Amino acid sequence: MENKEIVYYKKIDSTNTEICRLASKGAPHGTVVVAEEQTAGKGRRGRSWESPADGNIYMSILLRPKVEPEKAPMLTLVLAYCVAKVMQTWGIANVQIKWPNDLVLSGKKVCGILTEMHLDGRDVDYVVAGVGINVNTQHFPEELCGKATSLYLETGKTIDRRLLLEDILHVFELEYACFVETEDLSFLQEAYNEMLINAGAEVCVLEPDREYRAQAVGINRNGELIVRTAQGEEKAVYAGEVSVRGVYGYV
Ligand code: BTN
Repeated sequence: MENKEIVYYKKIDSTNTEICRLASKGAPHGTVVVAEEQTAGKGRRGRSWESPADGNIYMSILLRPKVEPEKAPMLTLVLAYCVAKVMQTWGIANVQIKWPNDLVLSGKKVCGILTEMHLDGRDVDYVVAGVGINVNTQHFPEELCGKATSLYLETGKTIDRRLLLEDILHVFELEYACFVETEDLSFLQEAYNEMLINAGAEVCVLEPDREYRAQAVGINRNGELIVRTAQGEEKAVYAGEVSVRGVYGYV
């Protein structure tokens, strides 16, 4: 984000948590926290995010959008789309999005996004948009090999993280402005769907209390994943509550 404060840490528990601390002290929209290493990196669905000091990007952005709380999860898709778009401009043409917000290269995860919303009564107080990108890591722990990759491993090139980060913030600022204007994702729906790895694939929809198989079609203008059930019924799956995985594995 242009002219916004970027707070840099060598080591921190979690950049998302730090943004929450700063936000509660009144930090402005657009504040960015970046860390070299996280000791308690957070992932989606209560999981942790491995965050060694190994040439990666761990970054969170403080957003204070004036939108209804139900619309805030769309920001996750906006950020995923922006990171993917920047990767494409950096020559990483085969980047794909696993709905709603994982970025995938050669079938392995290269980037994860965690957005957390804080309410003030019924209104959005702030949203933390956190992004972890495996940039220059050359080795993963055994349990992640086969599931995770890095830009270095995919391209054979060491990436300048500062430049990559600047590009992401710049593109995100532009796309964020479109989102707050339209309050939907119509402006990126088509481009997002072109990068969607799930399109046409059979997925397992994981709802809080049940799972079912369906064929993914693409996102609608609200960022919901349209799936077609075995009975031929089309359903819109909401990103705030549900995630999907491939029937045969991660994608
Ligand atoms: C996921 O795919 O599960 C989401 C991972 C999000 C990780 C990033 S790293 C920067 C920010 N701080 C955190 O604690 N998590 C996010």
